[in-house]
Amino acid sequence: MLWPMLQELDQLESEARAKLAQAADADTLDRWRQEFLGNSGRLKAAMGNLKDVPKDQKPAVGARLNQLKSEFEEALTARRTELGATGGNGQVGGQGGRPGQPCLDPTEPGLNYSTGPGRRHIITRVRDELVEVFARMGFQVASGPELEDDEHNFVKLNIPAHHPAREPIDNYFIDDPRKTDRPRMLRSQTSTVQVRVMEDAVRRLKSGDPSGFPIRVVAPGRVYRPDTVDATHSFMFHQIEGLAIDRGLSMADLKSCLLHFARAYFGPEAEVRLRPSYFPFTEPSAEFDMKIRLRPDQPARWVELGGCGMVDPAVLSMCGIDPEEWSGFAFGFGIERLAMGKYAIPDIRMLFENDLRFLTQL
Ligand code: DAH
Repeated sequence: MLWPMLQELDQLESEARAKLAQAADADTLDRWRQEFLGNSGRLKAAMGNLKDVPKDQKPAVGARLNQLKSEFEEALTARRTELGATGGNGQVGGQGGRPGQPCLDPTEPGLNYSTGPGRRHIITRVRDELVEVFARMGFQVASGPELEDDEHNFVKLNIPAHHPAREPIDNYFIDDPRKTDRPRMLRSQTSTVQVRVMEDAVRRLKSGDPSGFPIRVVAPGRVYRPDTVDATHSFMFHQIEGLAIDRGLSMADLKSCLLHFARAYFGPEAEVRLRPSYFPFTEPSAEFDMKIRLRPDQPARWVELGGCGMVDPAVLSMCGIDPEEWSGFAFGFGIERLAMGKYAIPDIRMLFENDLRFLTQL
């Protein structure tokens, strides 16, 4: 014969479940908890009766009691969730919570998924550091649109029609260059901002405001080229452009400006060199190299950071500036290259993948 206590427990279970199903607010739920799960509740009392159960049936009854306890707890939690009641304190969570309706408590603290305080991306930081160094040398910050036109990206930079730099395969044209005279494009270089700054200074001068001259600006920003992505190339990257226009500027000013910059940013030991080169918008033109370590385990080597030169008189004229009166120098560097050099980052893709394990090291 089965010990009657097992039947009693079956009855206790159905009674508990029926009452729980009817409980519709936090107070009733709490009373239910006290009645069935509380310290002086009915389950506890049944457990106290275990001592009277014959020895051979004790394991079965004990197991049933334990099972009921966990089932009751689970059922209570499920019912609370169903009703939107918060645990334990007998209150319905959140303002306006009505019995029987799930509700949200907006004052509850959220889960903390963060890996620590946030930080600015390394490219943003390097950009700001560069701007800061040039600001100390008297350069202001200028900017221009990323969606440019052929006139600012090419024509006024002395890059004539049929120049290889204009090949559709090397540029992100928005308009078909065969169908319109001024096709729009994603700028392929921040040199576009040189043109915009000069045009603006001339426009202001014409309206009686000479404050645009002399010019000393840096323009950091994104540029786009359909390059195949590898360790040193990306279809989008950042450049910082520099432009100085004044009376009597020479190549010596350019060189000392770049040397100052390199030493301020990379330290007094920084080694730089200029190699003769060619750009349509500068004459003479040079490649600017620095000796840097790209991998912590490798010796420093010469790395090309960008181009520079004296602004071509043709460019000055096209922007409305008299090359007899003014001269200037310009430069354009890759910000990723500078960041990779400064922080010994071996692969440009690491800068765009946004892997927190990488970002939080910097
Ligand atoms: N715009 C050039 C490029 O993207 C870099 C450059 C070269 C900028 C010479 C300049 C310059 O301002 O004078 O390759």
